[in-house]
Amino acid sequence: MHYLSRSGESITLTPQPGDTVLDVLLRHKIPVGYSCRKGECLSCIIQCLEGSPTTVSQEGLTFRMKSQNHFKACICPADQVQIIAPSGTKQSP
Ligand code: FES
Repeated sequence: MHYLSRSGESITLTPQPGDTVLDVLLRHKIPVGYSCRKGECLSCIIQCLEGSPTTVSQEGLTFRMKSQNHFKACICPADQVQIIAPSGTKQSP
């Protein structure tokens, strides 16, 4: 998995079996907001640039956010996404 920072730096992240995307980000000390870790507070929203976030990880998001591949990092299995970035990095046309 790769994390594309706002400055354009690509950071390689190594998930472990059973990790959520948030688990991987925190282990690699990537700054990301979070609170509940249960998919309820929406504070861990990030964007997927390549891959397919689970439907559950997009529940409660607006149509626009879903169409831009935003998802909740705390409940999305890490193996679902290949390239991620902070929310709002890439916009749909
Ligand atoms: S930490 Fe609350 S939704 Fe992810």
